[in-house]
Order: sequence, then structure tokens, then C-alpha cells
Amino acid sequence: MELARIGATPKGGVCRLTLTEIDREARDLFARWAREAGMSVSVDAIGNVYARREGADPKAAPVAMGSHLDSQPSGGKFDGAYGVMAGLEVVRTLNDAGIATRAPLEVIAWTNEEGSRFVPTMMGSGVFAGVHTLDYALAQTDREGVSVRDALQAIGYAGDARPQPLGAYFEAHIEQGPVLEQTRTTIGVVQGALGQRWFDLTLTGQDAHAGPTPMDGRRDALVAASRVVLEVNRIATGFPDTARGTVGEMRVLPNSRNVVPGEVRMTIDLRNAKQATLDAMVDALRSALAAIESECRVSCALTEVVSFAPSEFDPALVDSVRSAAAALGHSHRDIVSGAAHDAVYVSRIAPAAMVFVPCEGGISHNEIENATPEDVAAGTDVLLHAVLARAAVARGKAEAA
Ligand code: GLV
Ligand code: MN
Ligand code: MN
Repeated sequence: MELARIGATPKGGVCRLTLTEIDREARDLFARWAREAGMSVSVDAIGNVYARREGADPKAAPVAMGSHLDSQPSGGKFDGAYGVMAGLEVVRTLNDAGIATRAPLEVIAWTNEEGSRFVPTMMGSGVFAGVHTLDYALAQTDREGVSVRDALQAIGYAGDARPQPLGAYFEAHIEQGPVLEQTRTTIGVVQGALGQRWFDLTLTGQDAHAGPTPMDGRRDALVAASRVVLEVNRIATGFPDTARGTVGEMRVLPNSRNVVPGEVRMTIDLRNAKQATLDAMVDALRSALAAIESECRVSCALTEVVSFAPSEFDPALVDSVRSAAAALGHSHRDIVSGAAHDAVYVSRIAPAAMVFVPCEGGISHNEIENATPEDVAAGTDVLLHAVLARAAVARGKAEAA
């Protein structure tokens, strides 16, 4: 709740866009809390923040926890922040209980998970996992033309730490959907996440006067864009395997009441649990665009900006989350994530798993996003025990935690 004061919005959420001054304040607070918990803090070249608690075996690869501190423009208090704070709480609990682990522990705050200010999404974990080169990520710009490189330097988070390979990675997160709440389940044992393909689409028609231009002579880019919105919705409704399709952003040009819009720029977000079905959805989108181009007399320029396959988390780590939930007496069920998470990219280079807890009404990416203290505590407890199982207790008693 203290962290959520940074970037707080009137409706109870947060606006903490990545690499802004607000994001810097949140990073600084996390780094201060981590140091107060006895951890050392380092930052890599894409701004990922690593807080480290040494283990008894300095050669062991770290067992990491984490998520992200950036938010959507009208985001909630929990998306991302929960996973970072849960990691910190695990370390504080081990400190209180006098427990040392064999493997070092790390709590990581990844840069730009949301992909809202800068595309692509999961940027920091993507660079860490080698999905994107550092240069590619640093060169991306926001709508005002500010680059990731300049934004990182402006907030003092362009670091020089060389990230170490992880022995394991656990991410706690709110579910962001309705399943756990509807089934009255406390812990989601996450199996993996939907694959995603994101596009930018520019539709170009012709600006014209709203009065003298007859209805049948127009090349109205917004009429065409409206059809695209309906087609994306139709595709996602009609395809199987947890298909999702969203147009979340649209800019109309020149955006004047009495001008037939000559240009629309929009985003398209397609998701699916199966790669073949996801690709078929994209084929259906391309056919729909071809029909709209000729019927509305506009041209469509479609650019893919994000693409990643459906992911599956590490079976042994997933089991350790399930066992921890069972041992602690929490109701639990297997679940697939509809959202992307840093764990998706980390899972490509290290064993990874996630712990979900319910959120109120299944609502997220919304200022009213909420979760109960009992549920976030339960998720953190599961995280603690799954981490301990992996990192191994070197001194102290696990029961004390
Ligand atoms: C992450 O927030 C996503 O869009 O899945
Ligand atoms: Mn998130
Ligand atoms: Mn999010």
C-alpha cells in the first residue's frame, strides 16, 4: 500500500508508466527496502533491478523471485508490484526466522513489463533471456519520440551489472481473471501462458469535408477501422483454444468533428493457448483486412510488433508450488495465464513457475483492481515454501518460516 502511493490515481489505482520519474521513485523505494533487509542491489543495462541475499554456497545459482513495478496508464496496485513485494517479504521472513539458504536468493524488478509506454512488452526480462538484443530494446521510442536509452539515463537506472544465470525463478501475481474467485480457490498453480501476437495497423483513406462529400464517395478510415474492431472480436469469439482478440488503442486523424477521417492508427492484440490456432487467427485477420481494403477503399499497413509462443512452465517447479499450497492447507487448482508475465521469457533460460492469487471480480488493468490481504499473504507463503524447497535450508528451521 505504501508503494501504491507512488503514482496513485484518484480512483485508487496507480499510473506508474515505465522509466518515468514515478517509476524511479518506486524503484528507489524498493532498493531502499531491499538494502534495509540486508540485500545488495545492482542494476543492469536495461534497468532490471536485482536485490540479492547471499546463500551459504556462493557457487550456487540464485533462486529468484520477482515481477515488475511499472503499471498501465490506469492500472491497479497489485499487477506486478505484488510479485516484487512478495519476494521482499519472503526475504524479510527468512531474516526474522534466522534462516539461511544454501543458494543465494534474488528479488528482481524487471523493466517495462507492461509494454504500454514502450513496445515490446516484457522488455527487461526479454533482454535478460536473450529474446531481444540490448540495442534493439534501448532504441525503442515512446509516442513522444523518447528512447528507452534516454529514459533509462534520465531516471538514473542505466546500470552496468552483468546479470547472472538463475537456478530458478518464481513469480507471484494476481490472476487478473475470474477463475480463482469464481471457484473459491486461493492459489492458482500456473501451468503456462497464452501465446500472443501484437500488431500496429494504419488504415489510410482520404480526409474530406463532412458536408459536401457524398456518403458513397468517401474513403473513411474510421468506418474501415470500426469494421476491423468487429472482425477482431468475431475472430476471437469464433476460434477455439482460449482465443482472445482486443483493439485497445486507436488514434483518428485529423480528429476533427467535420472532417471525414483520412487515417486511423490502431493496435491489435491476439492471444491463444495453441500456436497453430494463434497463427490461424492471424490468417483470418489478414483476409478480413483484404476485404475491408477493397470494400472501404482504404489501404491497410499491418506491422507485427510482438510475437511469442504459448509457454509451459517447468514441471518440477510447478509441482513445488502445488506441494507448498497443499502443505499449507490452501485450496488450489491448475490454471493457464491469459496475461503475459516476465516468467514467460525467463522460462526460456531457467526453470520458472508462477503463483496466482484471486483478484476481486477478476478485474485488472483497471484502477479498481483489488485483492484481499489474506489471499496475498497466502500467495506469499506459498512462494516462500516453494523457494525454500528449491534453495535448500542451510541454517535455521524451515518450520520457523
Ligand atoms: C500483460 O500485462 C499482458 O498484456 O498480458
Ligand atoms: Mn503484471
Ligand atoms: Mn499488466
